[in-house]
Amino acid sequence: MSTIRNIAVLGLGTMGHGIAQAFAVGGRHVTGYDQSAEVRGSVAGRIEQNLRTAARAGFGEEAAIEPALARFRVCETEAEAVQGAELVVEAVAEDLEVKRRLFSRIELQVSAETILASNTSSFPISDLAADLSRPRQALITHWFNPPHIVPLVEVVPGEKTGTKAVETTMDLLRRVGKSPVQLKKEVPGFLVNRIQIAMLREILDLLDRGVADPEEIDRAVKSTIGFRLAAIGPLEVIDFAGLDVTASVFENLVTDVRSDRQLPAALEQAVRSGRFGVKSGEGIYRYTPETVQKKVSERDRRFLALLQMFHQG
Ligand SMILES: NC(=O)c1ccc[n+]([C@@H]2O[C@H](COP(=O)([O-])OP(=O)(O)OC[C@H]3O[C@@H](n4cnc5c(N)ncnc54)[C@H](O)[C@@H]3O)[C@@H](O)[C@H]2O)c1
Repeated sequence: MSTIRNIAVLGLGTMGHGIAQAFAVGGRHVTGYDQSAEVRGSVAGRIEQNLRTAARAGFGEEAAIEPALARFRVCETEAEAVQGAELVVEAVAEDLEVKRRLFSRIELQVSAETILASNTSSFPISDLAADLSRPRQALITHWFNPPHIVPLVEVVPGEKTGTKAVETTMDLLRRVGKSPVQLKKEVPGFLVNRIQIAMLREILDLLDRGVADPEEIDRAVKSTIGFRLAAIGPLEVIDFAGLDVTASVFENLVTDVRSDRQLPAALEQAVRSGRFGVKSGEGIYRYTPETVQKKVSERDRRFLALLQMFHQG
């Protein structure tokens, strides 16, 4: 199978810049475009900072930073970015019409073999590719934040996606050091977000009901569920616990855990009052520009330590 060497990333925000970085570190030539001039101007510095944090944590050599940065080129137009690309990854805003229009525009500018990948968190590829004349070339590659560190990428084909596009994408992701998983069926939220939202609904409900403080909830999850799941999968966890025990606990608790469709109050009130999290300086916790930088570095240092363990098997 011939591997992809030239990749365009559209939208260079939280996800796009890290996706571009992962491909550049993996030896690919990456062109990037963002509609924001500010983002275009700052993205190379952001990637360089990520690479220096990684090198300090033992991931990659300092000497490999400049070559990786040299493989990434920011373009002034979308057309320039997608020219010659064998794979185009869109990581623009989560807006169905914006993404659809973008795919339709790009399809006219690239070769018939170019794969169009969306990093959407929620839209089915069948909807995103509805207007395309080559839906066989379209699929979802769903990365996780921070995408240059978290190993998994969900690859979700639609009914019309061609086998070759899926295989080429899976092969590319493996070659750049990712751990892709291919879904057999297209379901909203794919695998991981469905699982995550089920857990978050309960966590936010516990917060709403004042069962514990945020710090205690975070500590409880990190030091039990998170601790175990960093090493083994949830289905392995229940095999170790005993399926008979798991069945009893499930039956005893399932009627009590939250199961409705209402937005939990903690989330609803925070969003209504503009507390969006790190990006607005306050979410569940408070942040200043200084603590944000420290917390991002600390988070990435911990993630990189986990990644070390992950690669050791
Ligand atoms: N943030 C996450 O944890 C996460 C995880 C997985 C998937 N996603 C998905 O990834 C996508 C991007 O999310 P994000 O968190 O990086 O958002 P973001 O707001 O940080 O970045 C989006 C970037 O796209 C740019 N943009 C918007 N429209 C554009 C266009 N038409 N052309 C070029 N650039 C454009 C914006 O200027 C911005 O810099 C969304 O679909 C989101 O659902 C996000």
